[in-house]
Amino acid sequence: MPPDAILEVKNLNAYYGPAHVLQDVSFEIGSEPTAIIGRNGMGKSTLCLSIMGMLQKVDGSVRFHGEELLGKPPYKVAAAGLAFVPQGRRLFQSLTVEEHLRLVSNGNGNGRWNTERIYELFPRLAERRRSGAMQLSGGEQQMLAIARSLLLDPKLLIMDEPSEGLAPAVIDHLIDAIRGLSAEGTAILLVEQNLSVATELADRHLVMVAGRIAAETTADELENDPDAQRRYLGVEPLAEEA
Ligand SMILES: Nc1ncnc2c1ncn2[C@@H]1O[C@H](COP(=O)(O)OP(=O)(O)O)[C@@H](O)[C@H]1O
Ligand SMILES: [Mg+2]
Repeated sequence: MPPDAILEVKNLNAYYGPAHVLQDVSFEIGSEPTAIIGRNGMGKSTLCLSIMGMLQKVDGSVRFHGEELLGKPPYKVAAAGLAFVPQGRRLFQSLTVEEHLRLVSNGNGNGRWNTERIYELFPRLAERRRSGAMQLSGGEQQMLAIARSLLLDPKLLIMDEPSEGLAPAVIDHLIDAIRGLSAEGTAILLVEQNLSVATELADRHLVMVAGRIAAETTADELENDPDAQRRYLGVEPLAEEA
């Protein structure tokens, strides 16, 4: 284990009914951004949900700064400093941007994050503050989902496929924003199937195959190994830089 490990996952198992989906998953992350990559159905989202206390049938151990989180309800996991941006964003159809943010920021004035800082990070959200969530573009919805989790002042931000369905220009903005969060000390655990997003944001990559961590690799290794890209993600290799 690296000396600066903050999250330690040990022999984590998760089940949906009789289906044993996570199988003895063990890894730890430090404060450097870490990516979890893998094809569809490999258990990446289940891993996030298990860490966040959102699944019932789990066993093993999830420690954050030494504190056992497994078995705690999601609000206690959040109170320990973890925030989660779920796959597909999960916004409230009937609420505006501002209402989403107010819902989280109420009575919480001394954290690092407040609505003004959120609007500085994502100026587009300020322009759209009175728009309903369903009127937002995919990129704006993703910004709002991230913004909402930042208002919890997380020490560790877990994001499940944040770039899914976004246009390339929007993805660039998303990458900048996530880099900024990392630079100011928020630890990042990023689940991604978009290899260029994953390698731009994280050096360290854990590969999930069939509910297990099957390999650990680096952005450099991945970028230079089209075979591994195919094996791990089932995608065509990254295009050569012009
Ligand atoms: N709510 C659920 N009930 C039953 N099976 C599920 C449920 N959610 C996911 N699964 C199954 O668990 C496995 C892992 O899914 P998931 O964690 O969503 O993978 P990934 O995020 O890597 O695409 C898949 O076989 C999927 O079909
Ligand atoms: Mg998923």
